[in-house]
Amino acid sequence: MNLQSPLIIINFKTYLESSGKRALELATQVEKASKETGVCMVVVPQAIDIAKIAQTVEIPVFAQHSDPIKPGNSTGHMLIEALKEAGAVGTLINHSERQLRLIDIETTITLCKEQKFVSCVCANNPLVSAAVAALNPDITSMEPPELIGTGISVSKAKPEVITDTARLVSQVNPKMPLLCGAGISTAEDVTIALKLGTQGVLVASGIVKAKDPYEVLVGFAEATNKAQSA
Ligand code: G3P
Repeated sequence: MNLQSPLIIINFKTYLESSGKRALELATQVEKASKETGVCMVVVPQAIDIAKIAQTVEIPVFAQHSDPIKPGNSTGHMLIEALKEAGAVGTLINHSERQLRLIDIETTITLCKEQKFVSCVCANNPLVSAAVAALNPDITSMEPPELIGTGISVSKAKPEVITDTARLVSQVNPKMPLLCGAGISTAEDVTIALKLGTQGVLVASGIVKAKDPYEVLVGFAEATNKAQSA
């Protein structure tokens, strides 16, 4: 699947505000914001909510995690083939809250390629991002774990970490889109992230916990549109 940059990926995590019926409502709001602004937005609900959301909205749906397994005798795992059949078109891999061994990241990326499933691999710092970029996923996202869920954005608190990541990643894999995340909550955070060399953001609480997620997303999208026309 062709995902257009700049990209806004919204991770629903396991917040009650983005689970079950509320996950579907939130995905509908994201779809509305994406359609109205023309900015590509991806929703990442819990696995149990994927099928219903994918049947209802037209924007891309990712899984939060996939396991490095083939169909067969695994229990309690996420099989890419099953996620695909449920309507997901890609997956996060190695999120800070669902970390994998390097060999498992590499195997999962390979399985994604075989299944034409988009792989978005998360990394916690510039060096790990560069290591991950060498495995050639479709997207890499850098998120300093200490800022996740704090509302203090990586853009403002650690801009040098974004710049370092963008530099190292572009040396290893210049064409691969790089996102950043952690604490992203305002349009300004998005503007800064793009200016520092990313092609979008990976965000959770800033949207899921917002009073009006649609309004916040439109602000994010306007920031990305402005950055593109600048
Ligand atoms: O996957 C997104 C993420 O970990 C960032 O979370 O709540 O800081 O936007 P948050």
